[in-house]
Parts: sequence; structure tokens; C-alpha cells
Amino acid sequence: MTDIKTADIQIHVDHEVQIIRLTRTEKKNALTLDMYNAMSAALDRADASHDIACTVFLGVPGIFTAGNDINDFVRRSKDMPTGTKISTPSTDFIRRLPKTTKPMIAAVDGLAVGIGVTLLLHCDLVFASPKASLKAPFLDLGLVQEAGSSLVGPERLGYQNAFELLVMGATWNAQRAYDAGLVNAIVATDQLETAALTAARHLAGKPREALLAARKLLKGDTAKVSTMIEDEVHVFMKLMPSAEAREAFAAFLEKRKPDFKKARGHG
Ligand code: COA
Repeated sequence: MTDIKTADIQIHVDHEVQIIRLTRTEKKNALTLDMYNAMSAALDRADASHDIACTVFLGVPGIFTAGNDINDFVRRSKDMPTGTKISTPSTDFIRRLPKTTKPMIAAVDGLAVGIGVTLLLHCDLVFASPKASLKAPFLDLGLVQEAGSSLVGPERLGYQNAFELLVMGATWNAQRAYDAGLVNAIVATDQLETAALTAARHLAGKPREALLAARKLLKGDTAKVSTMIEDEVHVFMKLMPSAEAREAFAAFLEKRKPDFKKARGHG
């Protein structure tokens, strides 16, 4: 894979560190199918290359990502992929996460929504600026949490924290995320990317075989995470065309409050 530079995403390798920068600024870095495909290919490349030690996810000032593009949810709610194993660019990216063999690092400035939060549970190091604002509004969209967060969330954060973040959809600031163990360090905004890249280069300078072996041991049984991802995909896709989910998507795009009661036919 050669380096990618589109209006929405930029991927390149520098000093044995692969950098994925989300740049769909005008849509708050909401993830399109092409962006998911590019990220999956980049993780494949990192795993296959002896010249890449780790991958760093970056956004733009004030925005990590607003999560999955809701227009994609709308399309899928009308035209569901069928078959025993649903495969879309987003589910394929999600399936890729627990299989990644190289460390992943994220630097979060401002908004991190949906997969922008659950991705962090798979990262080995997470840096956040004081302006970080994390939210996983799956329930408000009539959906359920994804990316194996039903398992990795409680494991990493404890059940109550995971429920608050992933089910209730609470907004967490940087300090709350740090206190819950989701963030390694809160770093001043102008130092955030430097901190993430310094950590990445530090890892790149370490004995590679031992680094990957240590990480694999620490990650434990990732097959369980993959099984959970399949369970989540099943429920998520089942809910996608529900009246409540469709009402939530329409309300967002029409910039109004959802009326779930009406959507259920009790309005
Ligand atoms: N999917 C599609 N478009 C999105 C988007 C998303 N997830 N998030 C933001 N956008 C678009 C908006 O529709 C808007 O487009 P427009 O300028 O053509 O109207 C543009 O990005 C700017 O977003 P806006 O809502 O005006 O910015 P904001 O600062 O007021 O709010 C968010 C930012 C992220 C809080 C808000 O956009 C939001 O809640 N987005 C949806 C997040 C979400 O539910 N993601 C899915 C998680 S599973």
C-alpha cells in the first residue's frame, strides 16, 4: 500500500511509525466507507511490514472523529446486507482491531464519538487534550455498542464505568476518561500530537520481537473479543432498520429532536 492522501484521510509512515490522520473536517471527521477501508488497509500494512513498529491515530484540531457517518446508517437501514456473516467496510475494520499485532496509539483532541471511543479501547496508549469530549451515543441512535466494547469495556473500565459510557451514553471529559483508565495522560493541546508521536518513536526504538510478544501476552485471548464483535454485529444490524433507529437517524440529519414514542406508533 502506498501512502494515502485524500481530502478525508491521510496515511503515511515516518520513522517506522504509521500515522493515520482523519481530515474530513467539514463533517467532523465522520467516517465514510472509504475511510474505513483505508484504515483497514493501513493496519494490514503495519502488521505485514518489518519497517512499521506501530500506528498512531490522529484527528484535526478540536475533532478526533464524530463516529460512523449517519448517512451510511440510513443507507444500511434501508438496504441491509444479508448472509450469515455481514461484511461492510465498518464491520471489517472493527473485526480487524483485535487481530492487530502492532501497537496502536491515539491522540484525542476535542470530539470523539461512537467508534471514536470504542477504538480507544483497542489502543495501547491513549493521549487526550484537556478539550477531549468522549461520547458513545449508541442507545440514543436505537443501536448497541460495538467493536467488542461489550467485553473490552467492562474489562478495561469496570462494569459501572462501561455502562455509563457505552450504554447510558454519558459525555466524558478528559479527566473522567483518565480517571476511568481509558486515557494514559492528559496533555496540553499544543503538545498532544508530539506526546503521541514521541511515545510511538520510543516504541519503534525498542526490540521489536519482544515488544510484539509482550503486547500479545498483555492483550490475552483476543478470540473472545472477536466472538463478542460477531454477537454485537448481529444485534446492531438487527436494530438498524428498527423504527426507533430510523427515527434517530432522520432526526439527526433533519437537525431536530427524535420522537421515539411516535416512531413506536404511540405518538
Ligand atoms: N455522520 C454524518 N454527518 C455528520 C456526523 C456523522 N456522524 N457528525 C457530524 N456530521 C455533519 C453534520 O451533519 C454537519 O453537516 P452539515 O454542515 O452539512 O449540516 C457537520 O458534520 C457539522 O456537524 P454539526 O452537528 O453541525 O457540528 P456540532 O459541533 O454542532 O456537533 C457533533 C458535533 C459530533 C456533536 C454532532 O455532529 C453529532 O452528534 N454527530 C453525530 C454523532 C453520532 O451520533 N455518530 C455516530 C455514533 S455511532
